[in-house]
Amino acid sequence: MPEDGVQAAEQAPRVIVFDTTLRDGEQSPGATLTADEKLEVADALVELGIDVMEAGFPAASPGDFEAVRTIAGRVKGVTVAGLARCNEADIERAAQAVKGAEAARIHTFIATSDIHLKHKLRLTRDEVLERVDRMVRLAKGFTSDVEFSAEDATRSDWDFLTRVFATAIAAGATTVNVPDTVGYTSPTEYAALMEHLIATVPGIEHAVISVHCHDDLGMATANTLSAVRAGARQVEVTMNGIGERAGNTSLEEVVMALATRSEQFGGVSTRIRKERLVPTSRMVSMLTGVPVQPNKAIVGANAFAHEAGIHQDGMLKERTTYEIMNPTDVGWEGTKLVLGKHSGRAGFRNTLQEIGIRLDEEQLNEAYHRFLTLADRKKAVTAADLAALVSDQLEAADDVLQLVRWNASIGSSGPATGSIVVSRDGREVSGDGQGNGAVDALFEAIDDAVGISCELEEYNVEAVTPGEDAQGQVRLRVRSGDQVYTGHGLATDVIEASARAYIAALSKIIQGEPTAIIPGPVSAVSRWS
Ligand code: KIV
Ligand code: ZN
Repeated sequence: MPEDGVQAAEQAPRVIVFDTTLRDGEQSPGATLTADEKLEVADALVELGIDVMEAGFPAASPGDFEAVRTIAGRVKGVTVAGLARCNEADIERAAQAVKGAEAARIHTFIATSDIHLKHKLRLTRDEVLERVDRMVRLAKGFTSDVEFSAEDATRSDWDFLTRVFATAIAAGATTVNVPDTVGYTSPTEYAALMEHLIATVPGIEHAVISVHCHDDLGMATANTLSAVRAGARQVEVTMNGIGERAGNTSLEEVVMALATRSEQFGGVSTRIRKERLVPTSRMVSMLTGVPVQPNKAIVGANAFAHEAGIHQDGMLKERTTYEIMNPTDVGWEGTKLVLGKHSGRAGFRNTLQEIGIRLDEEQLNEAYHRFLTLADRKKAVTAADLAALVSDQLEAADDVLQLVRWNASIGSSGPATGSIVVSRDGREVSGDGQGNGAVDALFEAIDDAVGISCELEEYNVEAVTPGEDAQGQVRLRVRSGDQVYTGHGLATDVIEASARAYIAALSKIIQGEPTAIIPGPVSAVSRWS
């Protein structure tokens, strides 16, 4: 574990993986995580083997502050970073939030492009330089590990950038980050910018050069890798590439490109435990409610699926004909049976531990009970099934509403009907509904039972594993007034999964826990300035 950026620079050729899933990733429209979910993701990221965890933006809200403070006190073996604009209040807040960490970093940023200086900051270049100097020094008074970012670096004047980074390093910055904030650069241009900075910034050899890309033109991974080839030694990434607008650079893509084609990128490596990539991706997707597209590299459901006959033929003869990576190396278990319905509790607990899931006794009992029910309905219970099942259980644990039983009847002769029994704070309530299909009828029945109605804005269903008996996973989003709430549900029956997801969303309405930022320019601006 590097204590600070300087030491890390000397350890090349290792690339530092700076994960910002909990900060930039959480800025994905609709991806807000609850405090408990943030802790779950933080633990999973530590298991994955990241080096630096950007836990949040402490000055953004009391909730963000608390999340960063809690994570800082909890995780071990990683550096915890808190983001701060270049102003006293933000930096002091970030310092307070990360101070309990084993290794703490303050990550401070200010925009450097003329567009931002003129329209957003209304500062001159000299005023920016003066601010960088003062604020990096202030941050340095709190912790030796200070990262400075020049927001919108890729649209900034290169000579001005040289002066900005020189100022930051002279003031004590140990990492200097060159963000492609709006996803504008290209691999060749970004590499040239790295070379320019390496050649012109006095003192750059004492700092780690970091890269942070957005995917507006689909080039985030390519740009990041190109910068590594040119000498960058920290990559800022998110799991599944979630993040502002089109997202950030995907952690899994960069890690596997460096592992698979290391010779193309100066032989650098990371300390990521690759077999944790798929489980971590699933957890982040499940908790944020942001689905992974099926054709997503490494972690998408089809990333290792071979459909064309000619490919299948090649695969049967020799896997490497059509696979450049081994799916099991990145955590895919395929349809391998990991447990049967005759497995005992001890075997069940061991298997959970093997796939990185730790539960207390009470949680384990409930998970075991749900597993036995699933094993009765599904031939092969895979690690993917178990991860989804536990995630769903933990998610629903604190919900005030719980599904007790349901019924739906559909046919060609009339509208579908549904009835439901839900427990609310331990008391059973029931309702009936009619609708356009079984799901619609059950949603009506739930509204009737709970006495709340809301507007369904988005509904997604996907299978956890391949096969006819796969568990269905439903994610949905409802609107109540001007707030948005998400819910997800899991069951072998998609109608039941839908009812569970809807009940989860209504629980959040009752508990006053909006789980999504309303997408759009207004919320985006309010998180930033
Ligand atoms: O995209 C960006 O510029 C950022 C900075 C705060 C690093 O997220
Ligand atoms: Zn960003």
